[in-house]
Amino acid sequence: MREGDPTRLFDEGLARVEGEYEAAFAAALDEPALRAAAARYIGPNGELTQLLRQVGSLPAESRRAYGARANTLRQRVEHAFEQALAQLRERERRRALDVAPVDPTLPGRWPRPGRLHPTRRALLDVVDVFTSMGFDVADGPEVDRAEYNFDRLGFPPDHPATDMHDSFFVRGGEADRLMLRTHTSTIQVREMMRRRPPLAVVAPGVVYRRDDDATHSPMFFQIEGFLVDRDVSMADLRGVLTVFGERLFGAGTPLRLRPSYFPFVEPGAEADLGCTFCRPWEQPAGARPDCRVCKGSGWLEILGCGMIHPVVFENVGIDPETWTGFAFGMGIDRIAMLRHGIPSIRMLFDNDPRLLGSL
Ligand code: PHE
Repeated sequence: MREGDPTRLFDEGLARVEGEYEAAFAAALDEPALRAAAARYIGPNGELTQLLRQVGSLPAESRRAYGARANTLRQRVEHAFEQALAQLRERERRRALDVAPVDPTLPGRWPRPGRLHPTRRALLDVVDVFTSMGFDVADGPEVDRAEYNFDRLGFPPDHPATDMHDSFFVRGGEADRLMLRTHTSTIQVREMMRRRPPLAVVAPGVVYRRDDDATHSPMFFQIEGFLVDRDVSMADLRGVLTVFGERLFGAGTPLRLRPSYFPFVEPGAEADLGCTFCRPWEQPAGARPDCRVCKGSGWLEILGCGMIHPVVFENVGIDPETWTGFAFGMGIDRIAMLRHGIPSIRMLFDNDPRLLGSL
């Protein structure tokens, strides 16, 4: 037979379709791919369809045999296509059934809304009370010079707080001792060096001490407050703190000052609020002896305070003959604990959503 002989081309065409179609159908991963593969052979322009159209142009003696072969092949291809299609659909169906069933009776799921940590809420509320009285808000670094944390506040060089045992030093060396601040009183120094009186400032922030038990954490939150003006007295301090106590814990919450010592105030005091749990001022019989929070005393210590020491004014370049002022420093975690009746400061840092979500 010659090259280009129509029966030979026909033979080759049939052989190609026959050799390919099964593999092509098996390779199709989804219905569109399978239909595209089938169209290549038996679609309107498919290879086999075109061969069938050419049967009429074959030599008369071969037409019947080639026509029969091509038709048989077409039936086989069609059959194979149907089967492959059924298999694909079956596979799809099984996949759909394997997916976890939808139970429309289950409660819906919704993203848990986040919210502010109780310590952050206490901080914002405390700041709010003081800004409403006209205090500015200042900030300062957590790693600061020992000079601001101790020296300019009038701590003598051998004060126990300056010991490695009580404070976290980052770098030693006489010239630039750097440390994690042990209180926010650093901001008193920084702000008084930076600005001129009259001044009324609060400064919340994290502080660090080598302290670790149920009521002490090596890291905790404080807020510093101070006011510098002419003729400031202890009565002004008492008034501001009383407003604070009433705004946070309710009208009538009593405040008392007890003499205490801090190197940077004179006189110095510790301030107690009436116990916010047994609220003795609201009870006919006074403090409850079984109150687990105040242990029956009726008072809770909440902060240290006092009149700013003249030496501190001198150390920051403010004339102590002209200016007077008070300062206080309070633990914010403690306020959050009191508000929510949390017995251990650790619980505030454990981040257990069962606790935090309930406050
Ligand atoms: N800085 C003191 C402390 O951390 C508290 C304080 C601040 C006391 C201001 C007096 C005046 O304990």
